[in-house]
Amino acid sequence: MKNLCPNTVIPTKAGIQVETTGFQIKSGMTRLKSDYRYTTIGPYFCTKERFNPMQKTFSFQGAGEIHFGRGAIDQLPDLSARHGSGPILLVMDPFLSRGFLKIQLFSDLKKKGLTPILFDQIEPEPSPASAEAGARLARRKTCSLVIGIGGGSTLDTAKAVAMLALNSGKVSDYVGLDLVPHPGLPTILVPTSAGTGSEVTFTAVFTNRAAKTKGGINSRFLYPTVALLDPELTLSLPPQITAQTGMDALTHAMEAYTSNKANPLSDMAAEKAITLIGRYLKKAVKNGKDLKAREGMLLGSLLAGMALANAGVGAVHAMAYPLGALFNITHGLANAVLLPYVLEFNRVACPERFARMEFLLSGSVAAISAEAGAKKCIQKITNLSRAIGIPKNLKELRIPEKAIRTMAEAAIKVARPIENNPRPITVEDIVRLYHKMY
Ligand SMILES: NC(=O)c1ccc[n+]([C@@H]2O[C@H](COP(=O)([O-])OP(=O)(O)OC[C@H]3O[C@@H](n4cnc5c(N)ncnc54)[C@H](O)[C@@H]3O)[C@@H](O)[C@H]2O)c1
Ligand SMILES: [Fe+2]
Repeated sequence: MKNLCPNTVIPTKAGIQVETTGFQIKSGMTRLKSDYRYTTIGPYFCTKERFNPMQKTFSFQGAGEIHFGRGAIDQLPDLSARHGSGPILLVMDPFLSRGFLKIQLFSDLKKKGLTPILFDQIEPEPSPASAEAGARLARRKTCSLVIGIGGGSTLDTAKAVAMLALNSGKVSDYVGLDLVPHPGLPTILVPTSAGTGSEVTFTAVFTNRAAKTKGGINSRFLYPTVALLDPELTLSLPPQITAQTGMDALTHAMEAYTSNKANPLSDMAAEKAITLIGRYLKKAVKNGKDLKAREGMLLGSLLAGMALANAGVGAVHAMAYPLGALFNITHGLANAVLLPYVLEFNRVACPERFARMEFLLSGSVAAISAEAGAKKCIQKITNLSRAIGIPKNLKELRIPEKAIRTMAEAAIKVARPIENNPRPITVEDIVRLYHKMY
């Protein structure tokens, strides 16, 4: 008999003894799907932080409203009229600002009595300067609303523009947690990549290329007023960007699901996200015009964003930041390459969660232990990466091995993801992990 989560008495920090109900699985027998119901909550019994959700409080936040579905973009003029009046700033990804959508939107917004003003000076992996320029424009034109339409870089820029329009100072004054004193302008965010989940998070990430650093503004005032998601807007994403942004979303879901801050609501979002991304990522990369796959991916990245905003991310994100800051590797690509290696490091901390993720990814179960399921989960991620053309290691990204110590020292300072990581991780662990990636 294999005992995954046995009846145990676990001492809490306060010294109270709590008896948990466990379950047993006979090795060699096909495990019933329903057994996994227990593994969903299993880690609450298996790790100190998670074993008794009744003993800690948790909250769940996100965008004020979420609208999702094919053709949902048609709701934008009405939503804009509801949340703004007069001049409104349209922060648009440059790939869109020259196209038909911009012309159509300008016309529809004007019919609602609004005055749209375009801002499209957005860089991929944006710098603070573009958000600060956008904020100056919003203030000068006395805008009442900021609409962001584009990939994560555009949405993060729009969030910071809205915040800076009503708060003095620069982006760097607010990089950190809860440093923003006042609410910004209302925002409507429309993602056109299925990756970051920025449309429902409280974060805006900026790369300071001169200082070679990357950092996020994290504030409750950055939660968008409205998230509007239309999968048709993602049909034009090229395969490589679909693959990399999709792996970013999968990383959000998996890191949130195994985070020390995971809670029952973030788990619900993460589980569904893992299922959807497992089912649709390969299809969306293979055939970008597959609307069902695009829809599944956009819903998956939305749910992964909800999980990430409430449970946080882990060491993959911490270790990806220096790759972006020092070597201009895009966020999705950096996460995608690191993911299997860091999962392998974390596996021993919560094998039941990993086994559960394996089930979510594959939709079927084999007669295996939690440990074997956890190993299979990582193999699945590695196979998925290969199938969608993600580079295998840091050598393929041309990161010089001599930069490892500098990268590790930068990664360990990305404090919250390091704290959330299910297995405690030191700078020496990070050095060893980066070495494994060659
Ligand atoms: N705020 C958050 O919670 C959060 C979470 C994760 C990542 N991020 C940040 O988001 C940024 C990355 O965002 P991203 O991965 O979405 O990439 P991106 O926004 O940089 O877009 C990548 C490229 O795809 C293009 N593009 C976007 N949508 C397209 C479409 N439908 N068709 C064709 N081309 C399209 C863009 O013009 C750009 O050239 C990074 O700065 C990262 O740090 C933020
Ligand atoms: Fe991310």
